[in-house]
Amino acid sequence: MRFSISAVVLFASLSSTLATPKHKRGAVKPRRTRSLLINPDAFPDLPTAQEASAVAADAGLNLDDIQGDVLIGMKKNRELFYFFTIANAADFKPKLSGSILPLITSTTQLLDVSTQPETALNIAFSQTGLTALNVTDSLGDSLFSGGQFKDLANLGDPSATQWVPEFAGTGIHGVLLFASDTDDHINTAVTNLESALGDSITKVYSLQAGARPGAEAGHEHFGFLDGISNPAVTGFTANPMAGQAVVAPGTILLSETGDATTRPSWAKDGTFLAFRQLKQLVPEFNAFLTANPIVDGNLTAEQGSDLLGARMVGRWKSGAPVDLSPLVDDPALGADPTRNNNFTFTHSGFTLSSDQTHCPFSAHIRKTRPRSDLGTPEDAAHHIMRAGIPYGPEVSDSEASSGTTSTERGLAFVAYQSSLANGFHFLQQIWANNANFVHAGTGADPIIGALAGAQRVVGGLDPTNSAKTTTLTTDFVVSRGGEYFFAPSLSAIASKLSV
Ligand code: HEM
Ligand SMILES: *[C@@H]1O[C@H](CO)[C@@H](O)[C@H](O)[C@H]1NC(C)=O
Ligand SMILES: *[C@@H]1O[C@H](CO)[C@@H](O)[C@H](O)[C@H]1NC(C)=O
Ligand SMILES: *[C@@H]1O[C@H](CO)[C@@H](O)[C@H](O)[C@H]1NC(C)=O
Repeated sequence: MRFSISAVVLFASLSSTLATPKHKRGAVKPRRTRSLLINPDAFPDLPTAQEASAVAADAGLNLDDIQGDVLIGMKKNRELFYFFTIANAADFKPKLSGSILPLITSTTQLLDVSTQPETALNIAFSQTGLTALNVTDSLGDSLFSGGQFKDLANLGDPSATQWVPEFAGTGIHGVLLFASDTDDHINTAVTNLESALGDSITKVYSLQAGARPGAEAGHEHFGFLDGISNPAVTGFTANPMAGQAVVAPGTILLSETGDATTRPSWAKDGTFLAFRQLKQLVPEFNAFLTANPIVDGNLTAEQGSDLLGARMVGRWKSGAPVDLSPLVDDPALGADPTRNNNFTFTHSGFTLSSDQTHCPFSAHIRKTRPRSDLGTPEDAAHHIMRAGIPYGPEVSDSEASSGTTSTERGLAFVAYQSSLANGFHFLQQIWANNANFVHAGTGADPIIGALAGAQRVVGGLDPTNSAKTTTLTTDFVVSRGGEYFFAPSLSAIASKLSV
């Protein structure tokens, strides 16, 4: 078995220090010389393992016990989401500790190329999965316990007929997240783990995802760089960038500072994972931009179309925020993490509540993080850690010329938070879908807003005429459903979920 050596060594180091698992750096022969993560210039650097360990010690955070995907953001190269049911819990429980736990990648491990495994593995369970394991403690989150299918209408999804059938219900017990630099590595890890787990679990559905090729790496399928603005987490982020939100660890991790909800003790340092398979109609989106350029004497039609797209997102494709560069892209600004998040939507001599010449109120990044629109200091309750990744092929020539999607592509959206009601669910329902947020007439988010299939009327997209509204007859992002999961700490897997 290919994993045997590293698995035994890692497991030995885990089990010898189970109360406070510690990764023994240097104890294992480096498995890679090339990172499994992508690192576009525009993204803030991850802390080094040394930097993270120093700030974590100050905050009392144990980064060896937190699963690796939670705090690193949208940086995976290739990723497979493997959804399963537990077919035989009595058989699965010892395998969870014996075969899965030794392969679970911690936060510390991911921070240094020399400690990254060939394929990183994380795991999370739905409410029905925990129940199957006889874990009946309430985690204090009713959206998690109800499951995402029950939340469908609140999220604005048109109907269950658009959902991947396997998500429509409560049949999925858990998800394994495999991440690496190549699909071959992932496939090897899947084959090995499947043979170790035997019939204890059954695969229900899987989604293969990956960073887009070449210079598009880090860009989502509409073409915009994604993953620039994730919050800095006290106890993890060593050097917050200017304009980056700084959140208490309890915003993301259960029972840490900032999480006021009562939880069972074993849930500490776990987090809720909201998974969504969001289909993106890319040729349709591009055709819409081409048909509706912003008309301004200074712009060519193509520049007018690019400007409309940038205003719908709130950033240019390079990542440059329209708030700082309202009329043309500024790739140098987009690529500079010290500057590309340093804005608040306020400007001198500017009426914040009415002036949309820089950034529309409806722009995706303004709907999901209104910055100074809700006052200063910024609202702290509604931040999420985004860790999604694109899935599906590049747009083909025939799709581009016909303006019609023929092969599904989109975003495998992942958000981590300590409260679904304050995090993903809130951002989608209360902000993105709400036409009167942040002001009456703002309209729904033109990227992710969803009104149960009804057309969306969006304000503020035309900088030359703030009274003009734009009617979007198509949802360019269509929910194919998903599930709410709990991603436990490594020690909770050892002490509570397995035998
Ligand atoms: C296919 C669907 C989606 C696309 C194409 C998309 C695209 C983007 C892009 C291009 C950015 C700007 C880059 C960045 O700041 O990292 C962004 C930021 C963001 N998105 Fe999305 N997104 C999608 C779904 C969602 C969903 C479902 C949510 C939450 C309900 C969400 C919440 C956010 C947040 C919170 C930010 C950062 C805002 C900031 O801090 O300024 N996104 N998204
Ligand atoms: C779950 O609890 C029931 C009732 O106590 C017991 O019969 C069953 O063996 C338990 N299953 C597991 C996997 O622990
Ligand atoms: C167009 O260019 C002129 C001259 O440079 C400038 O005064 C005007 O503000 C520009 N229009 C817009 C909408 O930026
Ligand atoms: C961020 O922007 C403010 C003013 O808007 C400026 O004073 C400050 O120097 C900027 N910070 C960085 C790191 O560029």
